[in-house]
Amino acid sequence: TAMNRAAVFVCALSLAGCSGVQSALDPAGGDALRIYWLTLIMTLGGTLIFLLVTGLLLYAIFAPPERRAWLGRRRTIVVGGLAFPIVVLSGLLPYGLIVMRDTDVPMPGALQVAVTGEQYWWRVKYPEEGARPEFSTANELIIPVGQPVTVTVTAADVIHSFWIPNLGGKIDMIPGRINRLSFTAERPGIYRGVCAEFCGDQHARMAFDVVALEPAAFDAWRAAQAKPAREPDLPSLVRGRDLFRAAGCGSCHVVRGTEADGAFGPDLTHVGSRRTIGAGQFPNNVGTLAGWIANTQHIKPGVRMPSYGSFTGEELRSLAAYLESLK
Ligand code: CUA
Repeated sequence: TAMNRAAVFVCALSLAGCSGVQSALDPAGGDALRIYWLTLIMTLGGTLIFLLVTGLLLYAIFAPPERRAWLGRRRTIVVGGLAFPIVVLSGLLPYGLIVMRDTDVPMPGALQVAVTGEQYWWRVKYPEEGARPEFSTANELIIPVGQPVTVTVTAADVIHSFWIPNLGGKIDMIPGRINRLSFTAERPGIYRGVCAEFCGDQHARMAFDVVALEPAAFDAWRAAQAKPAREPDLPSLVRGRDLFRAAGCGSCHVVRGTEADGAFGPDLTHVGSRRTIGAGQFPNNVGTLAGWIANTQHIKPGVRMPSYGSFTGEELRSLAAYLESLK
């Protein structure tokens, strides 16, 4: 019947948000699982109390006076209005506090990553460990499965908020302050992180990729990222590199191993290895890169990078091909 179909539709709709790369209801690790249970218990508890109170309210309004008299007795008020809320809140408050405390304890053996929120992208630094040098990337967090990760966050301009719904809770990114969040991915996969604090016009377009790799694949990725940029070996790539130089891209962007050493924008040393560009906006390929360079202010008005609309199509292709070659 139409009624049944409507019921199925509503159920399907309410479950549609429960899985996927950006869902707190699809936990991929213990920290997210604890928050999932906290959400479930708080929601169920809140719903039950709401129904109870609404039921009593309707009863108080519509029941015959002699049957609702008990609602006004002192004992009902003491038990329902004082004892019950005190018992429920004394249980829920410590539970919530314990769950939240657990998410920011430093974990032994954790991978340390430093993330800075900037309008409207993410600067990601992998600090030195043993003999490995520090390197910086942008808009992606690559982590090993099964190993705790401790992210220290701050902001360069305004307040942002770091949130990977599948892996853990939110943490504010505040200029001049360092906050910390620990989590572990227990399932390899690709997740999506988002900015969870309104930070300006392009707040909604401030996302990043999280890729949880098997430890061996993570080590290989890390070793590759630590290397300087690849030298262009084809004439078309050399042309792209020369255009990159001539346009002054290196005054804002670093390409390690070249003279490009601007610290302002995202590090482009291995930009070709990233899944997406524009802080999670487009798949990373020559076409989207060329479009981005020419139209930043059209695609994400207000980002710090100006549109470079004066390049010809051929120049844009060479420039984008050079950047794509930086794997
Ligand atoms: Cu950054 Cu919202």
